Amino acid sequence: MKFFIDTADVNEIREASALGLLDGVTTNPSLVAQTGRKFEDVLAEIVEIVDGPISAEVVSTDFAGMKAEAQKLAAIHENIVVKIPLISEGLKTVAWCADRGIQTNVTLCFSPLQALLAAKAGADYISPFVGRLDDVGHEGMDLIGDIVEIYRNYDFDTEVLVASIRHPLHVLEAARLGADVVTVPFKVLGQLVKHPLTDIGLQKFLADWEKVPKP
Ligand code: G3P
Repeated sequence: MKFFIDTADVNEIREASALGLLDGVTTNPSLVAQTGRKFEDVLAEIVEIVDGPISAEVVSTDFAGMKAEAQKLAAIHENIVVKIPLISEGLKTVAWCADRGIQTNVTLCFSPLQALLAAKAGADYISPFVGRLDDVGHEGMDLIGDIVEIYRNYDFDTEVLVASIRHPLHVLEAARLGADVVTVPFKVLGQLVKHPLTDIGLQKFLADWEKVPKP
């Protein structure tokens, strides 16, 4: 399973990258806004830190605007994946990008049928938002199971990128279901590493080591 980090904060990306297990980065307009920086500056820095797919989202909602943005974003670096919302104009743009070798990540996916359409249009990644479904009383992870099943039935190449992850159990369930990618907030990445028994065990080993006669 690939691990992406879901942030536009370059300090977080640097720290996550230092762990040696980071495969890519996803951003969205809200995450970019939190940095208070220009999108182009943020992207220019991210592509220098991580050598893997970096999702950058369009903000146009019409075909012409999305095409222009997709072209501009893709020209920044070969690792840029253009993130496109799952609306009709977005699907058109995905098919247009696929014809031109521009990579796409279809975002704001909340149903298995939306995911089927994105794969048919030629998306490289589909981003189902599990946390936001949980927020409204739906089992977000059920959506992942459905998409994985559908994509396997028809051998689609589109990768299932589990987004809107809020806690470690989302990651565990995504791995069990065979999702291709999880994009995790920095905080959740830290939670995955930590275990109280590891800390207690390490303390005990170090304390016992003090008792070993030294040369
Ligand atoms: O990048 C998209 C997604 O991961 C957003 O997550 O927590 O805003 O629902 P969240």
